[in-house]
Amino acid sequence: MVPAAREGYCDPAMRVLVIGSGGREHALAWKLAQSPEIGEIFCAPGNPGIASHATCLPIGASDTVELADFAEKMKVDLTVVGPELPLTLGLADELAKRQLPVFGPNKLAAELEGSKVFSKSFMKKYGIPTADAEVCVTRAEAKTALRKIGVPCVFKVDGLASGKGVVVVQSAEEAERALKLFFDERVFGSAGDRVLVEQFIAGEEVSFMVLCDGERAIPLATAKDYKRVFDGDRGPNTGGMGSHSPSVLLDAPTSRDVLTDIVHPTLQGMSEEGRPFRGVMFVGLMLEGGMNPYVLEYNVRFGDPETQSVLIRMEDDLLPYLVGSARGSFEPDARPVWKKEAGACLVLTAEGYPGRFEKGRPITGVEAAEADDGVFVFHSGTAHNGDGKLVTSGGRVMGVCARAKGLSEAIRKAKGAAAKISFEGKHHRTDIGARAMELLLERTGSGLS
Ligand code: GLY
Repeated sequence: MVPAAREGYCDPAMRVLVIGSGGREHALAWKLAQSPEIGEIFCAPGNPGIASHATCLPIGASDTVELADFAEKMKVDLTVVGPELPLTLGLADELAKRQLPVFGPNKLAAELEGSKVFSKSFMKKYGIPTADAEVCVTRAEAKTALRKIGVPCVFKVDGLASGKGVVVVQSAEEAERALKLFFDERVFGSAGDRVLVEQFIAGEEVSFMVLCDGERAIPLATAKDYKRVFDGDRGPNTGGMGSHSPSVLLDAPTSRDVLTDIVHPTLQGMSEEGRPFRGVMFVGLMLEGGMNPYVLEYNVRFGDPETQSVLIRMEDDLLPYLVGSARGSFEPDARPVWKKEAGACLVLTAEGYPGRFEKGRPITGVEAAEADDGVFVFHSGTAHNGDGKLVTSGGRVMGVCARAKGLSEAIRKAKGAAAKISFEGKHHRTDIGARAMELLLERTGSGLS
């Protein structure tokens, strides 16, 4: 049941509506709940973990009109949109039409993530470093592009595909398989009406997130995620198997280059295109040769699981930044303060994920895991069964996060906490952070504490 609007509501404390149901939204609700400005948090649809901080609502994250109706009825002061789909469907526009403040870009600006063809042509137009690519609508066009670009190369669908629409092709045989997948079987449906065949850039991937108010950008702490399902970066891509913050790989001069060469021209270009960007811009970067940043993709929302390891490091209140972004003007001296500790996140997944997996497996040990100092468990695919017991309800079950003095210690702590949680078929990577530490050792001759 959606709670009824309170008559004559005049509490100055803020009412915030968070949209989504994953670990990212749990981390956002957890952080927002600590704000002294918060009166009440709602989350649609939320999950059992989020329910500790918010009233969860039976409204789908993509039901844009119903969400806006709720926000209007309940006089919500700020709606914070987690996932990309409602943004590309125009949730921010629907809320703005009703004069309701929203953190997240409008539909036109969300095309930066919603259409890879748009974002590639935008980057080319504004001189933002990115790989060359050809837009193909037929198999024949893709074959011509393949001959021109050669292997290795990358196939990307134009539309949203839950992180599955990108395939790296290493050989002629893999190219043939990709052509079949994208053009004959059309596994991505209309999202694959247009396909980019893109040059492959070798290097290291890092995530760079900035809060934007249309003109200014405030960088968040850097992070790195690990997308493949198995240790050693093997197996299919997932929505992210773990993360840590800082990324370790992005040094301060390179971060400044990313702001100067990528973020600021993007904000400026989007304004010139009549698509001013408000919300969080998450730039997926490839550091070519470990140094030169190229944009792999833009996302128009917080990264997951990056946000989990970033927010546990945030010292100050998140809410004023989100309000500033929604208003279109940050406070002049706004700059987040980060704890000197590192954050790590291990994602526990269900056996079979990202393919088929079972649901409804009982979960135990969450309270014991959370009892460890500096450990935070953020739910994603969990539910309560008929007996009120916590069970799995998705492939990505929860993020087990830890904060500690150094990255190795944060990872060790997260692993210790993850070991206390049990469910049948539980899987997690055991090498989160290892790649970053290896590279750091190569680069500087010294690892992390
Ligand atoms: N961690 C990657 C993403 O959020 O898309």
